[in-house]
Amino acid sequence: MKHFAVIGHPVSHSRSPAIHQAFASQFGHAIRYSRVHATPECFSDVLEAFRAGGGDGVNVTLPFKLEAFARCALVSERAKAAGAVNTIVFRDSEIFGDNTDGLGLVDDLSLRLGVRLRGSSVMIFGAGGATRGVLCPLFEAGCRHISVVNRDVQKAIALCAEFQNVPGNASIRAHPYSDLATLAKSQCFDVLINATSAGLSEKTLEVPETIFASSRLAYDMVYAAKPTVFMQQALQAGCPESSDGLGMLIGQAAHAYAIWHGVMPKTAQLYRDLRAEIDAG
Ligand code: ATR
Repeated sequence: MKHFAVIGHPVSHSRSPAIHQAFASQFGHAIRYSRVHATPECFSDVLEAFRAGGGDGVNVTLPFKLEAFARCALVSERAKAAGAVNTIVFRDSEIFGDNTDGLGLVDDLSLRLGVRLRGSSVMIFGAGGATRGVLCPLFEAGCRHISVVNRDVQKAIALCAEFQNVPGNASIRAHPYSDLATLAKSQCFDVLINATSAGLSEKTLEVPETIFASSRLAYDMVYAAKPTVFMQQALQAGCPESSDGLGMLIGQAAHAYAIWHGVMPKTAQLYRDLRAEIDAG
């Protein structure tokens, strides 16, 4: 039986085993999928031990995505652009790394939430790893413009500089939060994405109401049983729709499953089941 795992710190909360087993049952596959805990000091050893024990692949979650990238001999273009790996395949003596986070986001936006990304303008808050991981797939899905907003604007400028050669005539720009009131007067954004860690400390972002009010959807990359601080902020400011990142989590897992097994699972029913389970606490 093929054996997979999610490696993280912490990892006990991870829903990946349940998600992958649900996918496996769609195809009649029998798989093992474990949670493996590592500390920052022993990630490489843990990864190697899993492979030596006959493991076929792993998902990597926080805080190891950058380290996983460094450990992979071969990486996809997507993973290279993200500088991070969340899906590893052990192929004979090689370790291949990919990053499916952005694909999960794009699928959730376009397939579940019905957002037309082709030609769209997107604003992303945050300029860390979570943003870096999704820029390439958003452009590949046809986004015409992405504004990256960060407190430390130099970090956003440096990130945008790496993505200047985006396909077609798409564009990317960095902004401090202090630009936003003026920006809202001249530009509308189809989707606002929270890729900051502000919500972890229940902090709101310094975003003027006019930005939310003129957008179609506010999307938070994290998920929770109740609307996140960012979702509440958006709805109160007049944004018509908001979503948390549960669908992105399921989407990235579906793409990892496709990489490992060569078949793409369906996600809609699993989304409904997990949503109900999470909302019930
Ligand atoms: P990740 O890999 O999850 O993206 P990270 O690299 O630590 O994590 O980045 C966290 C992001 O959240 C950063 O863009 C950070 O902004 P700064 O670079 O200006 O620090 C952003 N962030 C964290 N707390 C925030 C807050 N209260 N308001 C706005 N942005 C915040």
